[in-house]
Amino acid sequence: MSLHNVIAIDGPTGSGKSTVSKLVAPLVGLRYLDTGAMYRAIGFAAYEKGVALDDTDGLVALVASVSIEFADGEIIVNGVKATQLIREEKISQAASKVATNPEVREYLVERQRLWVQKNGGGVLDGRDIASVVCPDAIVKVFLTADVEERAKRRAVEQSSDHSETRSELVQRDDRDSQRKASPLVAVEGATIIDTTHLSIDQVVEQVVELYTQAASQL
Ligand code: DC
Repeated sequence: MSLHNVIAIDGPTGSGKSTVSKLVAPLVGLRYLDTGAMYRAIGFAAYEKGVALDDTDGLVALVASVSIEFADGEIIVNGVKATQLIREEKISQAASKVATNPEVREYLVERQRLWVQKNGGGVLDGRDIASVVCPDAIVKVFLTADVEERAKRRAVEQSSDHSETRSELVQRDDRDSQRKASPLVAVEGATIIDTTHLSIDQVVEQVVELYTQAASQL
């Protein structure tokens, strides 16, 4: 099996995936792909076009025609700068719903693999990176944290109410880990890091160390 120059970072909402991935990427000389933003883009496009989130045919037609571009830290969906809009709670829930659709997943996984090929590897974060998108990743990390801590982080990030944020987060966790198509899972061989009592720098350090050790296998 040939290993890919990929750091796969999976985990639930609020576990620190994107913060850690963004910091790790330049330290190891790789680019970063936020795969969650791609599911959010589909959720956003569905809202804009009035496609129901459980309308399989509508979603299939939508993914076939949607344009998603990443440029200078911004995400452009069908020509609209949607960087902030895709972070709204209604789009978080929409993303989690469209992510249960196998056709949507197939399309996005294909795009993510092409991105890895084009960039000679990368740091990818999501729910299915080690299990589906890149099972040959040289480093597989599963980040987790206590639900109270994750809700606290999210509430601070979104300036929202803790208990409301917590229940929305639990709802999304349940959907993401219980769906039939590529549920969130820690694969065998993944390094599980519980970030509840760790600083961001400590987690970044651990991931970089894992990569440094593994890079000799490439
Ligand atoms: O990581 P995030 O919160 O931005 O992801 C938004 C939703 O997209 C999440 O609820 C589940 C889904 N998702 C997924 O199913 N697979 C991925 N690789 C990334 C995200």
